[in-house]
Amino acid sequence: MKNNTDNFWHNLMLNQKFEHPRKLPEIINIENMIDFCTNDYLGVNTIQELKHNINNYLTDLLQNDNVNIGATGSRLLSGNTYSHLKLEQLIAKTKGSESALIFNSGYQTNSTVMTALLKNLDKNKIKIFSDKANHASLHHAFQNLNLKQIRYAHNNLEHLDQRLKAYAQADNYIFIITESIFGMEGDKTDLLKLVQIASNYNALVYIDEAHATGIMGNNGYGLTSGLFDIYPNLIVMGTFSKALGAGGGYIACSKIIKNYLLNTCSGFIYSTALSPILTEAIYYVWSNLHTEYFSQLRKNLNDVAVYIRKSLQNLDFDIGVSNSHIIPIILKDVEKSQKMYDYLLKNNIKTSHIRPPTVAPNTCRIRLSICANHSMAQASKLIEILEMSKSRAMIINQLN
Ligand SMILES: Cc1ncc(COP(=O)(O)O)c(C=O)c1O
Repeated sequence: MKNNTDNFWHNLMLNQKFEHPRKLPEIINIENMIDFCTNDYLGVNTIQELKHNINNYLTDLLQNDNVNIGATGSRLLSGNTYSHLKLEQLIAKTKGSESALIFNSGYQTNSTVMTALLKNLDKNKIKIFSDKANHASLHHAFQNLNLKQIRYAHNNLEHLDQRLKAYAQADNYIFIITESIFGMEGDKTDLLKLVQIASNYNALVYIDEAHATGIMGNNGYGLTSGLFDIYPNLIVMGTFSKALGAGGGYIACSKIIKNYLLNTCSGFIYSTALSPILTEAIYYVWSNLHTEYFSQLRKNLNDVAVYIRKSLQNLDFDIGVSNSHIIPIILKDVEKSQKMYDYLLKNNIKTSHIRPPTVAPNTCRIRLSICANHSMAQASKLIEILEMSKSRAMIINQLN
């Protein structure tokens, strides 16, 4: 093989400049660490008893030849199985929607569902109103279709209303896009107020429940459960990759929207269906979300999150608008947040270091995700280390 630097294409890419270069993180032996980095909020991959129960359920299915590892094809060809159908029925029932549809990832769900919804409409009449802090996957379709979004200030529904008043016209196709719990800010959207505003414009509301699914709302079914009864122009999206501990995405919607997507959504039509064994693992967790076992897990998660948020505020850390299990520590510039990340890691605490373009410039942060299996002792340890970081920083500042 020729020297890489002689290669035209490699040189082209080498010459690209990245303001905040990314690299894959080192794989750290998590055994001696406290993990505030994972999105496995319910501890599906770490709570031994839960893992054991899921393994038993899956082993039984495999031994009795009731489930396959691979779907073998798209749902519209060979890949439609009872595992997929029963999970979709369960999602629809618990979300209060007429039906549901599952996809291979949350990203694929957002990007391809949105594309399918928009691609057959007159572009001149489309108006997309979206929260400034929405996840990258929620922008993908608009970028691809060259459609401008009208962004409103983060979680500011008055601003949304003002923007609607200013830009929405009677013959427009109005879309409103938001997350129910924001993945980087940790705050919740007032969904009742949102649909009330939306109803004045007959808008199609698309709500991403990636970070709420499994932990928030009635029995952990998300913050949108019951919302379909109030507002039918609704598509609710979520992932299985976070609290469900697996991977994949879903939408809950009307039968008519599902049928439209079966006919237009390339991410559904032309992709091999989610692995049936994974679908069963997701089914196991989802079908148990209402049990005492899971409600205890959610209670613990919430108790630990409340303790950490309060303690950080008492120490004067900027946690922004968080009121959930996602807690940012906003340190503004990248050097500071990198130092904090390294310092925590040195003290056996694993977190996520979040920088632009994932978040706005000058809002670099440490993102803490609280999980059901965090103990109060681990939470106190985190606070103790952060308190020490404060006094260390003060000493350094004085010396300088
Ligand atoms: C709000 C939100 N939506 C969608 C996604 C994409 O989900 P997935 O990781 O399952 O592709 C994420 C993932 O980080 C997310 O945070």
